[in-house]
Amino acid sequence: MTPPEPLHFLITAGPTREPIDPVRFISNRSSGKMGYAIAEAAARAGHTVDLVSGPVTIAAPSQPGIRLVAVESTRQMYEAVAERLGAADVAIMAAAVADYRPVSVSPQKIKKSKQQDWVLHLEKTEDILGSAREPLGFGGLLVGFAAETENVEAHARDKLVRKRCDVIVANDVSQPGIGFDSDTNEICLYHADGSAEALPRGAKSALARDLVRIIEGLARDRMRVPAS
Ligand code: PMT
Repeated sequence: MTPPEPLHFLITAGPTREPIDPVRFISNRSSGKMGYAIAEAAARAGHTVDLVSGPVTIAAPSQPGIRLVAVESTRQMYEAVAERLGAADVAIMAAAVADYRPVSVSPQKIKKSKQQDWVLHLEKTEDILGSAREPLGFGGLLVGFAAETENVEAHARDKLVRKRCDVIVANDVSQPGIGFDSDTNEICLYHADGSAEALPRGAKSALARDLVRIIEGLARDRMRVPAS
């Protein structure tokens, strides 16, 4: 029997940075480990990967078949994803993307003033995952992540529907030792058909392997069924 054709994955990873001035930015604690582990697992399974990554300090993936695209801001990540989504069979958005950015970026370092408070005016960023179906027209298997600290299932299911995903991978980032910047995680997959499957706590590399196996199966099933 001939082996199945490899799939093309687009994966986002790491944080985004939204500049305030030349030395300050808004960001978060994402290390990129989860997204990079998924990229490595997909490549190890024989697939090709575009890995769109925010700024991280972990090593670039060593596995052949991964093309690393380095970005900083949400706008840059959106543009990199928009450019590559059309070629992807599967998109997995594991990046921790800033929801807001400063309305204006000071060209000079902002000086401390005599005022005791400083109000930063923020505006919404592009919702990359939420734009994948419309306006970006992605017809492949769409997998989002949900990083939650309360009502995990309800919030994850809400994101699944709102962002028109096939699967949402939820992690409870209030739990010590998992989620942001750790080597382990504990995830639950919520599927568009209402079903759920929990993957118990383990190394991100092992979870990524299981996740890629499940996602690959779903993507191949979807390719066998003509789109309605
Ligand atoms: O990087 P690590 O240190 O390994 O940590 C892994 C992780 C905790 C970052 C990862 O497992 C994870 O949960 N990633 C999603 C983090 C997140 O910001 O989730 P969210 O619930 O805020 O966003 C929901 C989904 O929308 C995510 O797929 C996110 O990539 C996407 N999103 C969010 C906002 C935005 N403007 N554009 C987006 O595409």
